[in-house]
Amino acid sequence: MCDKLLQPCEVNVTVAALYYIGGAGLELCFQIKMDVLSLIKTRRSVRLFKKDPFPPELLTQLLEAGQAAPSAGNVQPWKFFVVRNREKQVQLSDAALGQTWILSAPVIVVVCADLARSRSSYGQRGGELYALQDTAAAIQNMLLTVTANGLAGCWVGAFREELAAQVMGVDRQSMRPVALIPIGYPAETATAPHKRTLNEIVEYLD
Ligand SMILES: Cc1cc2nc3c(=O)[nH]c(=O)nc-3n(C[C@H](O)[C@H](O)[C@H](O)COP(=O)(O)O)c2cc1C
Repeated sequence: MCDKLLQPCEVNVTVAALYYIGGAGLELCFQIKMDVLSLIKTRRSVRLFKKDPFPPELLTQLLEAGQAAPSAGNVQPWKFFVVRNREKQVQLSDAALGQTWILSAPVIVVVCADLARSRSSYGQRGGELYALQDTAAAIQNMLLTVTANGLAGCWVGAFREELAAQVMGVDRQSMRPVALIPIGYPAETATAPHKRTLNEIVEYLD
């Protein structure tokens, strides 16, 4: 069977028809792809989720998206903890300064920066800068993949790192928790927040 790949937003679509011959015969699958900018603009921080679990293959896809992120020297200084255990999720929401809404998501992915790994290649700059830049790229890749699959998530950065590290049983001096990402099917429609104009944020040096 082909995966259902219809996207929630069908603007600027390209349609690829894929023919798949399976045991049951000929099947026609349509893969509808949003163009990248539409996908980027469609992504929203969502803070309320349906209880329904999502298919494990989607979880694998978004982890692969994180895995595919660029990293300084291709060091890939990250670790992704998939937290499905309820008790641990509650501990994470406590760590997140009481952001209990994250508990509505069936899965919370905790993205950690492997500072030790970055340091071993790039010393202080690796541990203080590259490891965080690299994990940020992985987080955004995941959020976009979440959006592209009709799921939703939110980058949660306000949490007590030492408490979050305890949940995963890691030493935050070498494996620093950078973001909690609650993920699930959205149960709210988030309105697009104001974004600063290009005039405000861009300067051309011609
Ligand atoms: C580093 C970082 C930390 C964030 N931490 C939180 C957080 O702790 N709780 C929360 O509800 N949203 C958090 N957000 C989400 C932002 O509030 C959100 O990205 C912003 O309001 C813009 O909305 P948008 O994501 O829909 O474009 C965080 C985002 C980033 C990038």
